[in-house]
Amino acid sequence: MGGLTYFDFLAKFGVGGAHPGGIGLTKNMLLNENITEQSFVLDAGCGTGQSTAYLYQQYKANVWGLEINPIMIEKAKDRFKNLKMPIQLTQGSVESMPFEDNTFDFVLSESVLAFVNKPNAIQEFYRVLKPGGRIIANEMTINQPLNDLEASEIKQFYAIDSLLLENDWKEMFEAAGFQNVQITGQIYDLKHSAPAQEFNFSRNFEPELFGILNQHGNMLVKYHDVLSYRIISCSKN
Ligand SMILES: C[S@@+](CC[C@H](N)C(=O)[O-])C[C@H]1O[C@@H](n2cnc3c(N)ncnc32)[C@H](O)[C@@H]1O
Repeated sequence: MGGLTYFDFLAKFGVGGAHPGGIGLTKNMLLNENITEQSFVLDAGCGTGQSTAYLYQQYKANVWGLEINPIMIEKAKDRFKNLKMPIQLTQGSVESMPFEDNTFDFVLSESVLAFVNKPNAIQEFYRVLKPGGRIIANEMTINQPLNDLEASEIKQFYAIDSLLLENDWKEMFEAAGFQNVQITGQIYDLKHSAPAQEFNFSRNFEPELFGILNQHGNMLVKYHDVLSYRIISCSKN
């Protein structure tokens, strides 16, 4: 694979809505949130910015995108410019966010936490949220414990350090101080969740990235009964 990763594939193919359920699920997840024009909102790990743009379009809130990958940043920047949206885009890591304490009313994080140092990032979410602020995350979750061989195959492909069960997520958010941690989502089968429908291809990309796309598909089929996702929502008191 020549050192190329799943994230290289996502960035060079410019996959928009790179999370289970796509933008449709994003819209549903936000339905009961009290976001207004006055709200300060962060899309953490925003990728090419599809959900970020929706947050602005829907609420006209003060919207920030945070993203670590320079290719993703460029594609998100182009999107916001084309749509004439005054969204602030910052390059940085969710593990150490370049924001002051108590900055945001709402944080959205779609398929980002699973790939980073989870306790660090969750602690950072807590720090940058205002008291009373809310977070919603859509994250990879296993339905049952896996054997070592299965776990290491998945962890190696996605370059992740751990695979969490629903209750592990709950405990991790509670350990960071979050209140009223709710986990929703039936036991969705990733293989059948809405596919990403948007691509913004880079002019040049390595042919090997098709191999990664293929491997990703195989992984979803092979582990369709165990590899899933949940929506985690909670508040900072
Ligand atoms: C699966 S994609 C999801 C992107 C976007 N949230 C979406 O739903 O389309 C994960 C994103 O997290 C970004 N990412 C990975 N590690 C990160 C970190 N430490 N800090 C910020 N973003 C990160 C990746 O570059 C990628 O754009």
